Amino acid sequence: MKKFITFEGMDGAGKSTHLSWFAEALRRRGQDVVVTREPGGTPLGEQLREILLRQAMGMDTEALLMFAARAEHIEQVISPALLAGKVVLSDRFSDASFAYQGSGRGMGWERLKQLEAWVHNDLQPDLTLFFDVPVEVAKLRLANNTTPDRFEQEHGDFFQRVRAGYHRRVQENPQRYAVIDAAQSLEKVTAQLTAILATIQT
Ligand code: TYD
Repeated sequence: MKKFITFEGMDGAGKSTHLSWFAEALRRRGQDVVVTREPGGTPLGEQLREILLRQAMGMDTEALLMFAARAEHIEQVISPALLAGKVVLSDRFSDASFAYQGSGRGMGWERLKQLEAWVHNDLQPDLTLFFDVPVEVAKLRLANNTTPDRFEQEHGDFFQRVRAGYHRRVQENPQRYAVIDAAQSLEKVTAQLTAILATIQT
């Protein structure tokens, strides 16, 4: 059963659009679906999101705040929904911390693994849809964003590292991921999602 499904990818990969489509498709299947996001998902988490996206800070602070927001998110939203038998779709989860704070900023993965073990222990997504896209394509899609946040303002080499971080996560635990070629047209990506939906039990 795939109850906890996360959506990952670089800024500009289009994951949020695909998440909405996926949620609707599951609801049409009669599923009770909770859609949420990180950082955020709770009132406190959304306040932390504002700080994380706007305020300059050190690497450790950034990672700790991401996991603080996540602790709240799991306790208030994710675990209760899963216990009630709902499907939870989260726009990002801990893979983003490994990719952005770990590979992007250069924080050691051992540190992040400690935080992961502390904050969510054996709770892991049942399935992660990783929307993979070359950095140049992602940048083009973000080009008309007039108010880029602190992450979207980063340069190409940061995003190359983020992408490599996601690939490393997939390699470490391939059975959890569906890697989607998100450089393709919306229709083609939707076709890939339709195929995934047909194969999973929720
Ligand atoms: P996102 O929800 O993709 O923003 P948008 O509303 O623009 O689609 O993500 C916000 C940013 O937070 C994104 O640049 C990645 C970053 N992030 C991390 O660096 N670490 C994390 O653990 C998470 C969850 C997000």
